[in-house]
Amino acid sequence: RLLGCGTAKHAAEIGAFLIESLARVPSVAHISSEFRTNEPVINPNALHFAISQSGETADTLSAVKEIQLKGGQVHGVVNVVGSSIARQCARGVYIHSGPEQAVASTKAFSNMVAALAIFSIQIARSRTLGKEKGKEIINGLQQIPHLIEEYLDDQGPIMEAVEAVKDAKSVLFLGRGISAPVAKEGALKLMEVAYIPCLAYPAGEMKHGPIALLEDGSPVIFIVPNDHVKEKSLSAIHECRARGAKIILIHEEDDIEATEEADISIPVPSCSYLLTPLLTVVPTQLIAYRTALALGCDVDR
Ligand code: F6R
Repeated sequence: RLLGCGTAKHAAEIGAFLIESLARVPSVAHISSEFRTNEPVINPNALHFAISQSGETADTLSAVKEIQLKGGQVHGVVNVVGSSIARQCARGVYIHSGPEQAVASTKAFSNMVAALAIFSIQIARSRTLGKEKGKEIINGLQQIPHLIEEYLDDQGPIMEAVEAVKDAKSVLFLGRGISAPVAKEGALKLMEVAYIPCLAYPAGEMKHGPIALLEDGSPVIFIVPNDHVKEKSLSAIHECRARGAKIILIHEEDDIEATEEADISIPVPSCSYLLTPLLTVVPTQLIAYRTALALGCDVDR
């Protein structure tokens, strides 16, 4: 079980996905603020992770105490050294992102995901994951900083995306599978720094509600890496386009098929699909940042 709030919860969702996919261990992410009051059943043999940048989030701290009170152990995945959650857990890892200067948690998100990816690979290696496959994913993880730099050198049409979202009534973020939490994280960032109402849904849920909001020119930001659920995401894109939505697509650079579906296409370097959140989240952060600046918002507050 992985617990967190906001951005940390989104990292927890990706961690749960990685643990299940790689290690085949049932895994679930919880919102800390709902945890204690929902009277959860605690399995003392389960692994619990509390994920937090500040290490001071009261909801996450109270969830940790609740688990401990009921006989469970909690490992911290925390940025701030010596913080309350880190001390309360007394075990786990520091993610060493350095201080988060502004409100929005960005580099901490990446390091939370990276730490949970490393844990997933280790636990998977002790179970079903072969040595070669394990090495391949670790090598992929080591390449991520270079790939992020490569992307930052050529960010794609971020300013076109900013033009499409900055005066919108609302912005819809969609992604499937491991990209669903990335969509949530992108929406959170744009709301938090540019004050634009945003919705995020797993792409398959789009037709079960949010489609009602789409009209001519509605911006929809799709996160679609080249993975086994890509085709399903493309069909969701078709449905949005049929209603006149403006599609801003974040995809892998060698994916020509995806590009054809987009009004605005933002390519990121390719990597193993399990690591794509570390890359696809970056353009969403830049869109939030640049939109906030375009609207005259103080991104540091
Ligand atoms: C996102 C953000 C919040 C925090 C949440 C948890 O940019 O600032 O959603 O992620 O309040 O905070 P921590 O990680 O400090 O427990």
